[in-house]
Amino acid sequence: MEKLEVKHLTHHFGFTEILRDINFTLHKGEILSIVGPSGGGKTTLLHLCSGLLDVQEGEVTNSFKSSSFAFQEGRLLPWKNVLDNIAIGLLARGEKKTAAIEKSKAIALKFGLEEEDFEKFPKDLSGGMKQRVSFARALVVKPSLLFLDEPFSALDIGLKKELQTHLIEISQKENISILFITHDMMEAIRLSDEILLLKADPGHIVKKFSFDLPQNERDDAFVYEQSVKILQDKDIIETFELNSLELK
Ligand SMILES: Nc1ncnc2c1ncn2[C@@H]1O[C@H](COP(=O)(O)OP(=O)(O)O)[C@@H](O)[C@H]1O
Ligand SMILES: [Mg+2]
Repeated sequence: MEKLEVKHLTHHFGFTEILRDINFTLHKGEILSIVGPSGGGKTTLLHLCSGLLDVQEGEVTNSFKSSSFAFQEGRLLPWKNVLDNIAIGLLARGEKKTAAIEKSKAIALKFGLEEEDFEKFPKDLSGGMKQRVSFARALVVKPSLLFLDEPFSALDIGLKKELQTHLIEISQKENISILFITHDMMEAIRLSDEILLLKADPGHIVKKFSFDLPQNERDDAFVYEQSVKILQDKDIIETFELNSLELK
């Protein structure tokens, strides 16, 4: 069975300890979220898990057959148009250009892009459209594991929900597992089977929340209800320093 296993992972930048003794397992078909405040070490953890950063201490074992990434800023190639940006991963794997473009078109439409956008370059796309392209590019290769680093953070609430719905649908259909990094608890509640709470300085996991209701049955009421419950949790209050926001 494919899985991603993290054991006793500790990381320093210079003399600063960024992550301390992180342990978790992401199983096939699961959506696991790491939630914590900005600067808490989330991106560092994701980079260690995905091999973008070398492990110093502890272990990361990844037995997923393939993986891909979607980032907060999209990171499209400015000299390639929408379809060519989406097709990159397929072409890198040696697929024929015509087949790669056909698959790219199909997934672009699924993510709400229109035919008239296909030839456009990133400079002519809105932030939301770039993010649609970024998701299409990450999913067109049908990765068994998808790494997401706050891909919804810059989007307005309507678009956020739309892209989350596409993501849930496609990942369920293709049995894609997801390691999802975010500072947004509500978005984690909508998407995750399990949430790990990462407290900062140094980043360490203080709590785990699990959700059994299938993602496609979670409506706004469910998300609000769970958020209200979780926002009263003392570890959440400490991790996000919510008590300092109280009116004196
Ligand atoms: N390459 C690096 N060199 C030195 N410090 C870094 C580097 N990358 C991140 N940091 C520091 O590590 C801490 C955690 O950063 P990061 O993992 O990006 O947090 P998050 O994604 O939760 O906002 C921050 O204090 C950041 O300044
Ligand atoms: Mg980050």
